[in-house]
Amino acid sequence: MLKRWLSYIVPIKIHQKKSSVSKNLEVTWANGQLVLDSKNTNYSYGSLQRVLRKGLKKIGFNHIRNMQDVLVLGVAGGSVIKTLTDEIKFTGKITGVEIDPEVIKLANEYFGLHQIPNLKMVVGDAFDYVLRTPFQYDLIVIDVFQDTTMPNFLFEKFFMNKIGSLLKTNGYILFNTMILHKDDNARNDQYHAQFNNKPFKVTRLPRVESHNELILIHRYQ
Ligand SMILES: C[S@@+](CC[C@H](N)C(=O)[O-])C[C@H]1O[C@@H](n2cnc3c(N)ncnc32)[C@H](O)[C@@H]1O
Repeated sequence: MLKRWLSYIVPIKIHQKKSSVSKNLEVTWANGQLVLDSKNTNYSYGSLQRVLRKGLKKIGFNHIRNMQDVLVLGVAGGSVIKTLTDEIKFTGKITGVEIDPEVIKLANEYFGLHQIPNLKMVVGDAFDYVLRTPFQYDLIVIDVFQDTTMPNFLFEKFFMNKIGSLLKTNGYILFNTMILHKDDNARNDQYHAQFNNKPFKVTRLPRVESHNELILIHRYQ
């Protein structure tokens, strides 16, 4: 409790761990809230949670509440999953795919992810999962980062086609991207142009927090 109050004055690190995927993982009290950070960025809770919440609001909390199947690629501490279950009161099935077992241990220990009854966790690569799954989803959240780096496969046509095919009619993909360099703008322009074809409609939410751009893809038929 004391650490929580003190964290309004100065952040208090309570756990630090090396990670082969994210270089470094830190659990910190910051402004009265427990957050998970990698070496150079916030991973869960804090600004990341605000970014994805804005995307979910754009889809509409009521609409999401009536969905049945949600897929989250990149789970970390699970803040978007907490937004879905605690704020939106989503009671359908959530599948979380996370490559780093160390991050899942922290998510369970500090953020109680294992206590969420409608969450099924898959430890593995998002690319492999998308390639192999036979299921379709109403909402797919793509939030895959290795520290501040986004793996290239996310922007490759092959992966885009495959992930589009996993979306049910009237479903959404919420894709969190980071714009750190000029090239990243061009990369997102190209992604937008490639995806924005029947049956998909793409909307961009630029500069959600300082470096994030959300890409929202709606499958309308
Ligand atoms: C920004 S964090 C995710 C935050 C999370 N969505 C939330 O709401 O709190 C990015 C996560 O992507 C994971 N990741 C990186 N590469 C991956 C991959 N190829 N497959 C699955 N997860 C991956 C990282 O280990 C990290 O936990």
